Amino acid sequence: MTPSPGVRLGPRLRALLDLCPVQGPVADIGSGHGRLAQELALRLPPGQVFATEAKPGPAAELRRLLDPRSAVQVLHGPGLGPLRQLGCRGAVIAGMGGRTIARILESERELALSLEWICLQPMQREECLTDWLDQQRSWTVRRTSVVDRGHRYHSFLMVRQ
Ligand SMILES: C[S@@+](CC[C@H](N)C(=O)[O-])C[C@H]1O[C@@H](n2cnc3c(N)ncnc32)[C@H](O)[C@@H]1O
Repeated sequence: MTPSPGVRLGPRLRALLDLCPVQGPVADIGSGHGRLAQELALRLPPGQVFATEAKPGPAAELRRLLDPRSAVQVLHGPGLGPLRQLGCRGAVIAGMGGRTIARILESERELALSLEWICLQPMQREECLTDWLDQQRSWTVRRTSVVDRGHRYHSFLMVRQ
């Protein structure tokens, strides 16, 4: 696919993308502007990237922002809920607080633990997430960090053992 014009990742999302395994299908939860989802789509066969938003309004806006050539499929619904029946191998949750991300994972625990990999990048309160990660015994966790516009962001890749 021709790279979508104007899709450029800053250091924060670039660091997250670099951590994501090239293994689809994958869902970008709370995709927002959809830039990460579009970059993921460049690395995977068509139709293997889903982008979610909790509510219909932001989902419609996301649909408008996405380049149709990316073939990213937009779904709406909170947290990991939209992933039911999709058979995703991976998920990305970024751009929310660590407490919110931990709640999303805990409220759909069975679904989360059915995935092969999960990439996480909290905007703040990463300690809420590391507490949750420390309790997951059957996952290996890789951590990286990056400074973007003066703020240090921590990223976590969980891979099922
Ligand atoms: C700050 S944006 C982050 C966008 C992108 N993921 C990033 O890291 O740049 C957070 C997005 O998460 C969405 N969001 C918040 N809570 C959510 C939830 N429980 N489920 C799905 N999306 C959610 C918001 O609507 C918003 O678009």
